[in-house]
Amino acid sequence: MSKKLIIGMFGFGVVGQGLYDIIKTKKLNLEIKKFVIKNAHKERKLPAELFTTDPEAILADEEINTVVELIDDADAAYIFTKRALESGKNVVSANKKMIASHLEELAEIQIKHGTSLLYEGAVCGSIPIIRNLEEYYDNELLHSVSGIFNGSSNYILSKIFNEGQRYSEALQKAQELGFAETDPILDVGGYDPKYKLAIVASHAYGIYVDPESILNLGIDKLGDQDIQFAKEKGFKIKLLPLAKEINNNQVVLYVLPKFVGRDNILYNVENENNGVLVKAAFADEQFFYGKGAGGHPTGSAVLSDITALRYGYRYEYKKHLEADQLKYNTDYVLKVYLRYEDEEILKQITFQNISERFYGADFKYVIGEINLKEIIAKRDLINQTGNFIAEIL
Ligand code: HSE
Repeated sequence: MSKKLIIGMFGFGVVGQGLYDIIKTKKLNLEIKKFVIKNAHKERKLPAELFTTDPEAILADEEINTVVELIDDADAAYIFTKRALESGKNVVSANKKMIASHLEELAEIQIKHGTSLLYEGAVCGSIPIIRNLEEYYDNELLHSVSGIFNGSSNYILSKIFNEGQRYSEALQKAQELGFAETDPILDVGGYDPKYKLAIVASHAYGIYVDPESILNLGIDKLGDQDIQFAKEKGFKIKLLPLAKEINNNQVVLYVLPKFVGRDNILYNVENENNGVLVKAAFADEQFFYGKGAGGHPTGSAVLSDITALRYGYRYEYKKHLEADQLKYNTDYVLKVYLRYEDEEILKQITFQNISERFYGADFKYVIGEINLKEIIAKRDLINQTGNFIAEIL
């Protein structure tokens, strides 16, 4: 019989409650002994004695062998996760920012203390992409991993493109439905998919990359002209993270909006659904599709990790052990559409070439090739109100 898991859970929000609903339906050899929550005064649907605001109630309890960390605050999550792993407890977390920002250290702590940290729920909700990268593609040569990694921004884009909703209205709905982060700029600004991308890159390519060094620009500056431009050309706009191996063992990573046509499998990924597109040398193209946000879908990924702990599962970070170590690089040319307001900014941004230019009274854009390094260097300029950048084929 598998080991009984005595669980201490940090957080009882959308995902925590979703997970609890699922656990209730199953006969599993586990018990949730304590919930540590931030707000002691909120009404809960479980007995009050299960809840406390004191983290020590979990961290100092030797009977608790498994910590489930589902809080918003990445800094606190890091402290709890580290303490738990160092004191012999296994941890399941869905905190993408915390994991992406501390992955290398957390991987080392696991080895040193013989503990396990699993985080399938942190990346693309219900889609089991981390376990697949670890176990299934461990010997594959991966050309690229990309897709839709953020449910909220995809939900907003779907409502704008398919139902003609206003951006602010769609964002509010995504917040009401519990998909969005507490600070929704994390979603619409492309930070959340960037953290997920950094985690994916680690398992796909064996590289630890500080998310701060990865370019992310989002859909928060999307305007009516961009929507009209896309529609006229038969495109939709999607917010896409990309991890791609380029020449000489280099890996490029970035998050940008992209114009996608009907021939792209991501074109039909709508609402809070996510899609992960893996292009591999031998398996060729594979596509994973499913709900990327929400209590039950993310809760199901968290539960899968919890139950994997019963048989001692841990990530081996296999690609990190390979002889040919890959390196993160930002020297990569891509083709973009840039809508801009002030002519001055074009003088400050160096394109490799410009293939199309439009100059109207209230709509100006260029399409051209630009180095990723240049976008990173001019990020603040490009990200000013009045401008919008998207990758285009
Ligand atoms: N805010 C995230 C999203 C939640 O919208 O995808 C799931 O990570």
